[in-house]
Parts: sequence; structure tokens; C-alpha cells
Amino acid sequence: MYNDNPTIPVKEIDESKQGEVLMMETKGSKPKSFYIESYGCQMNFSDSEIVASILSEEGYGPTRNMEESDLILINTCSIREKAEETVRRRLKIFNKVKAKRPETLIGVLGCMAERLKSKFLEEEQLVDMVVGPDAYRDIPNLIASADDGNRSINVLLSREETYADIAPLRLQSNGVSAFISIMRGCDNMCSFCVVPFTRGRERSRDPFTIVSEATDLFDKGFREVTLLGQNVDSYKWENPETKELVNFAQLLEMVALVNPLLRVRFSTSHPKDITDDVLFMIRDYKNICKYIHLPVQSGNSRILDLMNRTYSREWYKSKIDRIYEIVPDCAISSDIITGFCTETEDEHKDTLSIINYSKYSMSYMFFYSERPGTLAARKYEDDIPLEVKKRRLQEVVDLQMDLAHEHNKKDIGKTYEVLIEGDSKKSDQHFKGRNSQNKMVIFPKHKGLGPGDYVQVKVDEVTRATLLGKMIS
Ligand code: 5AD
Ligand code: SF4
Repeated sequence: MYNDNPTIPVKEIDESKQGEVLMMETKGSKPKSFYIESYGCQMNFSDSEIVASILSEEGYGPTRNMEESDLILINTCSIREKAEETVRRRLKIFNKVKAKRPETLIGVLGCMAERLKSKFLEEEQLVDMVVGPDAYRDIPNLIASADDGNRSINVLLSREETYADIAPLRLQSNGVSAFISIMRGCDNMCSFCVVPFTRGRERSRDPFTIVSEATDLFDKGFREVTLLGQNVDSYKWENPETKELVNFAQLLEMVALVNPLLRVRFSTSHPKDITDDVLFMIRDYKNICKYIHLPVQSGNSRILDLMNRTYSREWYKSKIDRIYEIVPDCAISSDIITGFCTETEDEHKDTLSIINYSKYSMSYMFFYSERPGTLAARKYEDDIPLEVKKRRLQEVVDLQMDLAHEHNKKDIGKTYEVLIEGDSKKSDQHFKGRNSQNKMVIFPKHKGLGPGDYVQVKVDEVTRATLLGKMIS
């Protein structure tokens, strides 16, 4: 799922675009500064905030200017080949900065660091530090070692690390919405996916630290949190003393109870794991948003089986039915892959028809990109020609765009509660905000209102991507 608008609480950002430069005002004059770019999923952006927190403890302040920074970091994504190509291009640019200022250290963080490990240091000679997603606490030591002229690396994966006690340093924040990481890793082993190899085994974070992070954010004026995990529905935490279990539905309720004015979102759901209890929570708590990102990947049961998704077309459809039955005004979005190994034209048509059936409000759509080491790379031939993958992708994109427009047209005349996020991109006379269904709503400004306020907006016009309306008193 990819989106090039970093303000949309989605899982990933278009890796073809330059990564978001994380930035905040530096308090006082810090002796050292770091510059960080983040690519890929929301989890990476959230991780960058953990890294920023660790660095600030070491006296490093964030800067937007890479030429002047002591440390250039890139938080990387391996999910598709294109994502990795982007990172390599950026590293070349960082190296030009280093050529002029040799004392600058360059560090690669995240999934690509984990996947390529010491290859970065041995073959490419582009970086001083390689740090995997579970090794961020070691960054101060790695910097010290790199400062001494060593190339330093820590790519150890952990079964326990959740960074539960680290208060993320909110960077480039709109002051309204924030991510909270609730778990790490993934045990699912979808055959196309590199994540289980780069982010390791699934582990859930202590729910009380999640609630206290949410409470702290609310107290600071934030009004929306997105609970993040590769598969949030399999969240499971055992109280070490009482042995009581907390599941995702219970966690959602705990966070919803922080304050009725704090909206709760979550991503990503796995169709096999989302339970009725989660749907009941969404129905029963007004501040749990009526929006579920429920990637289907393919609409064909044979392909789903090859993908190791562990559900069939019919099973997925019944899950969609159940969601609309329990939460009729829920918006559902998806991730879709075209041209997976051996996919026929008819099987591709099954994907088109499940998109129609599910009435997604939006989707993140990709053509299959073989990733070394994955189950699919080992077991199946990547046999669909690139132009066929791309043509199928275009068909999926065209259909989804039409569906999104239809979805939005149904909102004309409706009134939604909108949480104001800030000025509209196109006009400072308009606010932008989201409704519970995660749709962007644009409307003329009113005096005395601003980011973090809730308003009622009646929709009178729509585009494929946005609802336009007016505030009603
Ligand atoms: N090729 C194409 N898309 C992929 N995704 C994951 N791995 C691949 C791959 N090898 C997509 C899936 C997933 C989203 C985050 O990225 O749709 O849900
Ligand atoms: Fe990858 Fe599947 Fe885990 Fe998502 S659920 S991260 S697609 S293995």
C-alpha cells in the first residue's frame, strides 16, 4: 500500500518519491546534528521517531540540511526492488556530501540493512553504519565505533525488542495525528513478502505502555493515533504476573477509553485474523474509526494459496460481508498485487471482480516484484512478463479509481465529523481534515477553529480522492 501523501495515515509511502525528511525545531544549539530520510511503511516512519529519540539522548538534534549534518541516516524499505533502487540512488548523493565533509557518518537503517547486512560495508563501500530494525538501541555504540574509523554493523534480530520504554521524538508532526507502534515483526510468511526476514518474529508491546503513550499524546494536544503493526489483529500480550492475555480488540478498547476525543485508527489487518470482537469495538466506540485496511492481494483462490495467504476468495468475501453487516458505514481499503507467479488472465479477472465486490474506498496496487530469499523466489518461477504485470496493474488501478469515485459520490449530501489537520494543500482559505472513514475532506475555514478541532461538514461535491463541503453549525 503506497501513497505519496505523507499526511495520510497509510502504511507505506511511494518509494519512488524522495523520502520524507524528518524535521523538528532543535532546542538550543546542539553540538551535533543528524539528518534522516525515511522510506517505506508507516512502521519505518515510526521507527525513525524512535531513532530520533535515541539520538537526542546522545545530544544530537535533527536538521533538514544534510550538507551540515554530522550523521546522515536513511531508513530503508526492501519490499520491492524499486524501493531498494531508490535507496541506492540516495546513498550516492549522501556520498557526494561525505566527499566534501569526510567526518560525516552515513548510516543505513531498517529493512534493507537487515537484508543486505555486511554487503553494504564490504561490497558497496557506501556507508559507515548498518543497523537492523531491532538494533536501534545500539546506535550510540555504533556511532562511537564508526567515529573511530571502523565500519560498524548490528543486524541482530530480537524476539523481545519492542522499544516499549522509548518515547518517540515526534518529527514533522502536524500536532494532531501520531503513530504508535504496538507490535513488531511478522510470523505470516506470505510467499511474496520479505518482511518476516527483515523484521523478524512477531512480538507485541506491553499494552500499558501503549495506553500511556496515547495518553501523553492526548495531553500534548494530539487527537488521533494510529496503532501500527504488520498484522495488528494477531496482537497478543501476556501479563507476566497474572498470565492474563490482552488481544487486539481489548487493546483497541483500552486506547479508545483514553479519551472520547482521541480518535483511534489501526493498520494493517489480516483477513484471517480480524475478529468479530474487533468489529464490535469499531461499532460500539465512536472514536474508533470506521475504516479497515484489509489487504486481499489477489481475488483468486489458487493464487492466494500460492501466496500462502491462508484464506480463499469465498472466505475473504464472507469477511467483507461480515464487516459491512456489523459496521455498515465502514470504509475498507486493500493492497493488491498483479502478475504473481503463474497468474492467468482469468485469475487476474478474479482480482478485478473481488475489488468490485469489496467496494474498496481505495487500494494500494503493485505489480509483483520477486524478492530474493522469499518463499516465492525459492519455489516459483517469476514467469509473468513485465508488460503483462503492468497492463494488469493498470486495469486494477483504473477500476479502483472508478470505484473510489463512486464511493465518494455516495457521500454527497451526508454530514461527517471531521478532525481538522491543517490548511488544505491548495488553499490557505480552506481546512483539510479526515472523516472517520479516512477520507480527506476540504472545506472553507472558520474563525476560531484550527488543527485538532472537530467540526461537522456537509459534503456537496467530490473528486476521486477528496470530499468537498461546508461546515454546518
Ligand atoms: N511485490 C509486490 N508487492 C509486494 N508487497 C509485498 N511484497 C511484495 C512484492 N514482493 C505488497 C503487498 C503488501 C504491501 C505492503 O506491499 O501488497 O500488502
Ligand atoms: Fe508481509 Fe504477509 Fe506479514 Fe504483511 S502479513 S508483512 S504481506 S508476510
